[in-house]
Amino acid sequence: MLTDANIRRAAEWISQAKSVVVLTGAGVSAESGLTTFRAPEEGMWSKYDPMELATIDAFNRDPELVTRWYHWRFTKALDVEPNPGHAALANLQRWLDGAHKRFTLITQNVDGLHQRAGSTGVIEIHGSILRWRCTETGEEMPLTDVSFETFPVPSEAGGLMRPCVVWFGEMLPPEAIEGATAALSSCDVFLSIGTSATVYPAAGFIEIARTAGAKTIEVNRDPTPIGGGVDRAIAGQSGVVLPHLVELLKQMGDGRDELE
Ligand code: OAD
Repeated sequence: MLTDANIRRAAEWISQAKSVVVLTGAGVSAESGLTTFRAPEEGMWSKYDPMELATIDAFNRDPELVTRWYHWRFTKALDVEPNPGHAALANLQRWLDGAHKRFTLITQNVDGLHQRAGSTGVIEIHGSILRWRCTETGEEMPLTDVSFETFPVPSEAGGLMRPCVVWFGEMLPPEAIEGATAALSSCDVFLSIGTSATVYPAAGFIEIARTAGAKTIEVNRDPTPIGGGVDRAIAGQSGVVLPHLVELLKQMGDGRDELE
């Protein structure tokens, strides 16, 4: 593999780190069969632009359409399985825990696949499509408590049910941003994986990590705007690169007993 030297260097940095932060985007779920945010969708939803559906204005204007879109999206997310990239990140967390190092996984994904792969304490800065809330009371509930018999879905309080995701024009959950910023401000390795790194504040996370003195690593299938500014850019699919990275870690440092 051409990128072996980069992956090896990344593994060395991680094995020497006290605190590691990972940011993931839609690319990590691509190998599970979920379309990334900026790639064209298949089937009947291909004629819609996600950037125009994922807004509060779109929901207010046409709640039926937006609810149907999210229904389709969570059905698809529940239908697929976590891939080796998700599994490797859960494995990395176990390795770092075993070595008494800090690990924080921040994701822009709303699909719940990291948790299904075994990652814990995941900071979901864009929320989750597996939780829904009432537009009147703000009460949240798991998907399993929401009945999708009519679209849009009425709530008991006389409002509508909407997904607990962050739409364009909405604030990000303050506690998620605080948690992410605190981890980034004190990390010594930062990995940006499978994200186009174009949307703030995620796009700015690398700056916070860099200011903290962290080594910065990118794993992406394609070139991105931040690729030129990181210490190591690893070109490849996360489902291939990450298991390889964890395999190298197995051969280094303490904590390796925690690996499966
Ligand atoms: P994007 O669709 O913008 O970017 C996905 C990135 O993953 C691209 O850079 C792809 O090249 C890369 N990629 C694709 N397959 C990959 C693979 N197998 N391995 C590694 N990389 C791969 O998705 P995000 O960056 O997640 O926000 O988008 C960020 C946010 O923009 C989304 O959360 C969404 C959107 O606006 C909100 O909805 C608020």
